[in-house]
Amino acid sequence: MRDSYLSELVQRWQLPSDYLENDSPWQLQWRDERLSLRYCAACQPAANGETSNPLPRRPAAAKQLVATVDWVSGTVGYRRRQPGIHHEAVARAVGIKGRYAPTVIDATAGWGRDAAILANLGCPITLVESHPVVAALLEDGLRRAAAHPETASMSQRMQLVHSDAATYLQNLPTEARPEVIYLDPMYPHPAGKARHAEVKQEMALLQLLVPAQQGEGLLSVALDTAQKRVVVKRPRGADALDNLPPAVAINSAKHRFDLYLYPKPLEMMEGGKVANPHEHR
Ligand SMILES: C[S@@+](CC[C@H](N)C(=O)[O-])C[C@H]1O[C@@H](n2cnc3c(N)ncnc32)[C@H](O)[C@@H]1O
Repeated sequence: MRDSYLSELVQRWQLPSDYLENDSPWQLQWRDERLSLRYCAACQPAANGETSNPLPRRPAAAKQLVATVDWVSGTVGYRRRQPGIHHEAVARAVGIKGRYAPTVIDATAGWGRDAAILANLGCPITLVESHPVVAALLEDGLRRAAAHPETASMSQRMQLVHSDAATYLQNLPTEARPEVIYLDPMYPHPAGKARHAEVKQEMALLQLLVPAQQGEGLLSVALDTAQKRVVVKRPRGADALDNLPPAVAINSAKHRFDLYLYPKPLEMMEGGKVANPHEHR
């Protein structure tokens, strides 16, 4: 079962078969009824530039990293159960208020942690992820969330799209434009600063897997597509994405959420007219 499931998965997501080989640094594994991705630095062959293996091979930060998408238990499960979840910075950033929960496209889904919190608070949310392995893990996480009584209704508000987000947003019909677009592009910040070991490990793994420049150009497309606001998650102290100053920023302990709002807030109006918030819009 395990091997046939993994082979089917590799074919369906058109992944290199290296993901199934025991001596590959990157391995997909099926354990305890869940899919996980393992990065094993010790399995890394000497880089001689002649390998046909298309998977990224970089200096290892740790001997072994494992990630799985889990919104039922772990840190997301813990956050979901907190009574103060409505006050989380990410919830305020997208504009959740009382019973109002906007439609959201999370254009850089990653492990879907932020998306799961927003879906849990009632937002219908589309998770867009360009990396096929991350998308395969998200699909598995969504399947398990749908099967669990605590997360079943939340999972019904979540839809997974495997695509480059800029392409997806540019081809979105007008009536499907979301109220909010949420961006959390890769940033070369030290994953070692994350508070929880689980998050630390998963972010370190993403940084090895996904090139940091992949989110480039997304902000401009997002600004052209969102109906009400674009939210960009940044590490605290980082420059604004594409050096475009936000209208408002909301800080949490580790992050800053930069908000680009439509229409612009009153205090930003010039001469009674709404100033063009972004030159290209
Ligand atoms: C920092 S992670 C996001 C983490 C996420 N917010 C969470 O809570 O788990 C960024 C993710 O965005 C994806 N990504 C980057 N550029 C993308 C693009 N143009 N289209 C779709 N996904 C993209 C990367 O593959 C990576 O998985």
